Amino acid sequence: MWENGVLSEKLAALKGKMEEELGALANSRELYEFKNVYLEGKKSRISELMKEMRSLAPEERAGFGKSVNELKEWAFGRFQAMEEKMKRLELERRYEREKIDLSIPAAPARIGNLHPVTLVINQLVDIFSGMGFEIYEGREIETDYYNFTALNTPADHPARDMQDTFYLSPEFLLRTQTSAGQIHVMEKKKPPIKILSPGRVFRSDDDATHSPMFGQMEGLVVDRGITLGDLKGMLDVFVQKVYGEGTTTRLRPSYFPFTEPSVEVDCSCFACGGTGCSLCKGTGWIEILGAGVVNKKVLENCGIDSEEYSGFAFGIGLERTAMLKYGINNIKLLFGSDLRVLGQINEK
Ligand code: DAH
Repeated sequence: MWENGVLSEKLAALKGKMEEELGALANSRELYEFKNVYLEGKKSRISELMKEMRSLAPEERAGFGKSVNELKEWAFGRFQAMEEKMKRLELERRYEREKIDLSIPAAPARIGNLHPVTLVINQLVDIFSGMGFEIYEGREIETDYYNFTALNTPADHPARDMQDTFYLSPEFLLRTQTSAGQIHVMEKKKPPIKILSPGRVFRSDDDATHSPMFGQMEGLVVDRGITLGDLKGMLDVFVQKVYGEGTTTRLRPSYFPFTEPSVEVDCSCFACGGTGCSLCKGTGWIEILGAGVVNKKVLENCGIDSEEYSGFAFGIGLERTAMLKYGINNIKLLFGSDLRVLGQINEK
């Protein structure tokens, strides 16, 4: 037994204080804070109380130590019980906070679709790569040489008036045709050549069927013995894949400086089957692309022997193809990003 009025009071006061604080704890953070202050380490209130032992007579010390240890055990017991309770409570609160109502209907998922021009590019690339064409990506800023001169259209050539050009300087321009890519390819690669070159082209032209920026796809085949017959055979396969089986082509004489002979290619109207309707303006035919046998001068400009080699080339308007294929009557609809329009054309 020990008898010390001051220490008994201190012990009772500490217990009272702990009791009070335990009762007021709001969360586990405060609980651990409590443990830290009262129970843990040499600086805790319990340890501080234990140090008072020094002021007691030797025979009283064991009794005092026992009382402090009992207080400590009691406090630990309370702490553990509180810890369990807090954890349970906090978990319950968290469940409440994170509760998901699985019966609420989901917001409708809006799935986009590919742009009609992208669909056309994908389809053309697919068809022509199936025939062994490789893709060549040209450049949008070209020199006058690649866009015109090397394509047999020198500075004073009247055919330059066929295309209203955006010049950046006397030498540089925004390409008016993907045909410029033909020259780059033929300068670098010797026959056999079989390339497809999709890309943007630019012309100062703006109405319901023309836009200052539009897409083209150029095709070029150069090898020994290539003729207009090869072009026609390839085009027949092409139109059947794009516009449906039974579609045929016809070639009309035309003029492009870089081809000789040059042709305008029509396909039989896929809307009426050739009997005449509003799409084909009663003619039964629809113009789809320009083409021709590569002009010998163009081959020579690229260092290809025109006695040994020959080729054909064609240029397809991508927006025009999309408009025909999907029944779109104004090119601006393809640049407007209006989802009511674009959402209607939905194929893979
Ligand atoms: N470059 C021509 C244009 O933009 C289209 C064209 C016609 C390309 C005939 C060709 C071709 O390769 O042989 O109007």
